[in-house]
Amino acid sequence: MGLGPSLRVAVVVSGRGSNLRALHEKAAQYEYLVAGVVSNNPAAPAVDYASRQGLPVCVVDHRAYATRALFEDALASALDRLNPDVIALAGFLRVLGADFVRRYQGRLLNIHPSLLPAFPGLDTHRRALEAGARVHGATVHLVTDALDGGPIIAQAGLPVGPAEDVPALAARVLALEHELYPYVLGCWARGEVAVR
Ligand code: GRF
Repeated sequence: MGLGPSLRVAVVVSGRGSNLRALHEKAAQYEYLVAGVVSNNPAAPAVDYASRQGLPVCVVDHRAYATRALFEDALASALDRLNPDVIALAGFLRVLGADFVRRYQGRLLNIHPSLLPAFPGLDTHRRALEAGARVHGATVHLVTDALDGGPIIAQAGLPVGPAEDVPALAARVLALEHELYPYVLGCWARGEVAVR
């Protein structure tokens, strides 16, 4: 009999939490553990979900801190209490400073709704359609202090339909995200991701 999953993943959220849900639901299948959830937004549906699932959840409300550095110190303390091997940003809407990023360098991941380096930043689905992109998708990457610019770990793509609109494309990419992020953490748990 095995000892159960040993890779501890902390998930950092701000909003809806559909990626959190996918990460949590697929944890057993991919053999990692969601150690807990940290949110900057007390009203995030993701916080609700985590509580209902009995996951450890901590709110660090950025509005309660005078500076970004103070907020990020509190965020780091909350994360460190979860003793995570990996920190997975999943719809976290604050930009993180260089000190925070350096502190967790090599184990801080993000999921982004485009095939990076195409379409960093916001509103990716609309921009992809306007650019006439034939393929679109999602990327899991290491976080560095370049916005959406860290090393890419894995991507999932799909063909853009001829008459596709933003909501339809967004929904199809989101479904891909829900496969990709747990898959990547499974690879990480099996030791298949090397960070040099
Ligand atoms: C996802 O599209 C993710 O790629 C981006 O923010 C969105 C979060 O959605 N970073 P959810 O909160 O996981 O539902």
